[in-house]
Amino acid sequence: MSTALGAELIKAKGVTKRFGALVAVDRVDYSLREHEVAGIIGSNGAGKTTFFNLLTGYYPPDEGTILHKGVDVTRMTPQERVARGLMRTFQLTSTFDNLSVIDNLVLSFFRAHRKSSLMHLLLNTCKRYRNEDKIVAILETFDLQDVRDRQVKHLSLGEKRRLEIAMAVLAEPEVLLLDEPLAGLAESEIKGILDVLGRHVGKQTILIVEHKISHVKDFLQRLTVMHEGRIIADGGYEECLRHPEVRRSYWQIDVSANENEHASA
Ligand SMILES: Nc1ncnc2c1ncn2[C@@H]1O[C@H](COP(=O)(O)OP(=O)(O)OP(=O)(O)O)[C@@H](O)[C@H]1O
Ligand SMILES: [Mg+2]
Repeated sequence: MSTALGAELIKAKGVTKRFGALVAVDRVDYSLREHEVAGIIGSNGAGKTTFFNLLTGYYPPDEGTILHKGVDVTRMTPQERVARGLMRTFQLTSTFDNLSVIDNLVLSFFRAHRKSSLMHLLLNTCKRYRNEDKIVAILETFDLQDVRDRQVKHLSLGEKRRLEIAMAVLAEPEVLLLDEPLAGLAESEIKGILDVLGRHVGKQTILIVEHKISHVKDFLQRLTVMHEGRIIADGGYEECLRHPEVRRSYWQIDVSANENEHASA
């Protein structure tokens, strides 16, 4: 992909997180630039989600520093990081299952842009903002027009996942962090998610954790492989897959899980 990368948004320096004797994230150095579409893969327990949680501020690291645009955010809470515009994971976004798709989007829009109380909003103002330009545009981008008035509890899993990501995108985070956004989805639904995410390439910095690398390999500009808390490879897809330590520690574990075609890549 030809997108020019911008300034460095996130920098992790020597970040470590321990759970008792277990070192879940082990002296990780990582940086992410504006407009980059990057992925992290690794086998179960590699430390991917823990690393995400360190970036979002869910956990403070035991050691190391996390910078956002050069500012030290290591001790900031998730809310303070979101307030800086840093990032939003779709897991932080909860849907209201008894409300329609469009009203969930309106609420998400409000949470990001206005200070009104949620209850006041629910009772009085949903209707008025259903035609807000940004909301109409996001319905289209995420292929949700046909289900806009459907209650969320009646959506398919793929539609719900698209809604969750749409809600995160509406908050206009600098970095969209997605931890296994394809988990549990059928092939056809996966294609739908990748199509809509593809529309944000070049406009949005995206960091995605994924188990099934075959699904996202065409989508990512850069791949990072974690194993036992450490980053063992970082770079292009082919480069990472050829890396001896990746072949040894990642593929040997995952090769059996429908990935045979990629083991020989
Ligand atoms: N809250 C916690 N308390 C104790 N141990 C934890 C906690 N969270 C994670 N771990 C351990 O830390 C290690 C890394 O876990 P993590 O969830 O970050 O891995 P992961 O790469 O996201 O794995 P998966 O692919 O299964 O999602 C694992 O050994 C896990 O059991
Ligand atoms: Mg995980």
